[in-house]
Amino acid sequence: MEFAKVLQRRRAVRHFNADPISVNTLHSIVAAAQQAPSWGDSQPWRVTIATGDTLARIKAAHRQRAQAGVKGHAELTAGTPTWPAASRENTQTWLTGIQAFLGDQAPQLDAIQADLFDAPVLVYLTIPQGSPAWSVYDLGAFGQTLMLAAADYGVASMPAYEIIKYPDIVRQFTELPADQLLVMGIALGHRQADRLNDYPAGRTDTHQILTIKD
Ligand SMILES: Cc1cc2nc3c(=O)[nH]c(=O)nc-3n(C[C@H](O)[C@H](O)[C@H](O)COP(=O)(O)O)c2cc1C
Repeated sequence: MEFAKVLQRRRAVRHFNADPISVNTLHSIVAAAQQAPSWGDSQPWRVTIATGDTLARIKAAHRQRAQAGVKGHAELTAGTPTWPAASRENTQTWLTGIQAFLGDQAPQLDAIQADLFDAPVLVYLTIPQGSPAWSVYDLGAFGQTLMLAAADYGVASMPAYEIIKYPDIVRQFTELPADQLLVMGIALGHRQADRLNDYPAGRTDTHQILTIKD
């Protein structure tokens, strides 16, 4: 697929249908993500994928806890992370925009998160405990490459804190090795026809984030 098309296709999809993704396709998507650059070719990433019964157990436990309103705590950041004012403003713009776009359907945004987007596949991205911050940078590149590769295979994706906000549940059912830090989760699948998937998140004007010194 043409690169511009792949880039355009990679959008956060918050509601998936039940169509499965073959093990071969998952393998190819992860193999493509391995082309991401990393500090000194250190390739710190590890990938754990949950499907089938494992996924069903994770979803049941996650739903129960999310519906009870239990606050999550990701492993990457201790305590509640804070963002600078400009980033908080962007997030607020997105939130207001998507809620207005969804109208009466806005409460479904929370409900579908508790259901982990109904995804048929959850991908967990990890790095060794105690890794330098560079490995988090590398893992970000890996995650984006994975989502672009997925788009190229006609597979939709959803990067979400929601997926890793109860690390103990993920650890229990995937048997994640204790020496791995759970950093990020990405849902994969095929889009459900749902307005939840149609909101075009905006971007700030490039002039605001770019400085070119000649
Ligand atoms: C690290 C990270 C965490 C995210 N967590 C969530 C989440 O928990 N729930 C959610 O609905 N979207 C989440 N998103 C998706 C963003 O809201 C989305 O990427 C952003 O609004 C831009 O939209 P786009 O991906 O469609 O271009 C997350 C994205 C990233 C990169």
